[in-house]
Amino acid sequence: MTLEHGQLIYEGKAKRIFQTEQDERVLIEFKNDATAFNALKRSELEGKGRVNCHISAYLFEVLESQGVPTHYLFQAADCWMVAQRVEIIPLEVVIRNIATGSLCKQTPIEQGEELLPPLLDFYYKDDNLGDPLLTEARLEKLGLISLKKRLEIEDLAFRVNILLKTFLKKLDLILVDFKLEFGINKDDQILVSDEISPDTCRIWDQRVANPEDRILDKDRFRADLGGVVQAYGEVLKRIQGACAKPRTCS
Ligand code: TMP
Ligand code: ASP
Repeated sequence: MTLEHGQLIYEGKAKRIFQTEQDERVLIEFKNDATAFNALKRSELEGKGRVNCHISAYLFEVLESQGVPTHYLFQAADCWMVAQRVEIIPLEVVIRNIATGSLCKQTPIEQGEELLPPLLDFYYKDDNLGDPLLTEARLEKLGLISLKKRLEIEDLAFRVNILLKTFLKKLDLILVDFKLEFGINKDDQILVSDEISPDTCRIWDQRVANPEDRILDKDRFRADLGGVVQAYGEVLKRIQGACAKPRTCS
């Protein structure tokens, strides 16, 4: 289903952002395109856009119900979400509860080690540079945000972690790690933005012991494990079993 929309504002690897009749609102289309390793690996996964849009809508509503400000306004259709217009801060904020992925490639930290307290890292969002990990000094030098806003972002990211981890645990889903993006709206308010889905989170099925079979996120695509959309669908099914449907208008 394609909705009526205004001009394309931005096209990313997994979403398109369109203007709406109201200047302060945008329409976001979740695409079926899947990419990994900075888009070196690409595919089209039928049904992914729909599942990710639904999961994101549910999770934004979970956060909002606990007072976390997000850009989400409502779900307009299967693959479409209406959100506040924000300026995205070019930082990828990653929180890790269990060591895996790039952390284990870049350090001697053992795969599967529980990280207490969780680790928070900033990466610079730039595909041409390969989204590099930032040091404190580089973050300060880049001057993308004030110290006050940076502390606010860190605080929000840790709150999101506790809320999502607790929510997913009740569904026998383990939140291993995830990436957030933040935006600033016209009132200079920081909002959790972009998406929160198995494309941007690592989620393991607590009901499954086998390390490959328990993966319910984009690592299935990254490692050619197959069943990507089915795995995402399992996450959605469990969330749907626990929540009221996302709202469809403001
Ligand atoms: P990493 O272990 O590859 O650094 O990934 C950490 C988390 O961030 C994981 O949940 C996947 C997510 N992520 C993205 O959403 N986008 C990206 O471009 C990358 C590299 C990771
Ligand atoms: N998001 C990045 C890409 O699309 C990397 C990843 O998720 O593995 O290429």
